[in-house]
Amino acid sequence: MKLLFIGDVVGSLGREMVATYLPKLKKKYRPTCTIINGENAAAGKGITEKIYKGFLDAGAQAVTLGNHTWDNREIFEFIEEAPHMVRPANYPEGTPGSGYTFIKINTLEVAVINLMGRTFLPPNDCPFRKAEEIIEKVRKRTPIIFVDFHAEATSEKQAMGWFLDGQVSAVVGTHTHVQTSDERILPNGTAYLTDVGMTGPYDGILGMERNAVLKKFLTNLPVRFEVASGRSQINGTLITIDDTTGLAKAIERIVINDEKPLFE
Ligand code: FE2
Repeated sequence: MKLLFIGDVVGSLGREMVATYLPKLKKKYRPTCTIINGENAAAGKGITEKIYKGFLDAGAQAVTLGNHTWDNREIFEFIEEAPHMVRPANYPEGTPGSGYTFIKINTLEVAVINLMGRTFLPPNDCPFRKAEEIIEKVRKRTPIIFVDFHAEATSEKQAMGWFLDGQVSAVVGTHTHVQTSDERILPNGTAYLTDVGMTGPYDGILGMERNAVLKKFLTNLPVRFEVASGRSQINGTLITIDDTTGLAKAIERIVINDEKPLFE
């Protein structure tokens, strides 16, 4: 099976890129399932029900989140009724929503797990121990397991990749918004990529309007960040997985922007 994952969708430009390119990517790569990280999809922070449903209508089967999960308060009204929305699993006990879900495709089932790092991010429960706990449960149902590790530090992401090597199909990172070029299959069969990169503004700073970010760096004064406008990009990854073992056979990066157009 082939799994397509689209990195952090930022604001309306990001959503437009999904609407434009998801059908083209599906036509080109014929993925068995598609997952989108949507934690920045609503004006750069959080997600709404309309956007979540829009992603499913566009052809995604699950939406993962991250540190901006609660930034749009609307999420509290629908997360419990959104079975394919996955928030970080290592949030404290009693947090709304779920940290993993299953996608059914014919006779196959894909487990989707979202975890959040703790380096330069809020001190949630241990993502490593939480991963172990969830994987033990989901492996009873399926060997095909996808992990979106939303984290800042490359070291923490690499550590998660090695920690789960052979236990899951893929560990890919989100949150930094910049794609890394270290895609590989680890020795025991887990596909790994430190960061998938973002989907949305191409000429911003991590998707945000440059002048505000520059003002922050130059003056340290409080500034209001807005999603940048102008040109846009879409970044993702395609992972080929053995249906029986759940181990990865291939991983490739997807990069589409003005300099790197999609060859259909
Ligand atoms: Fe994030």
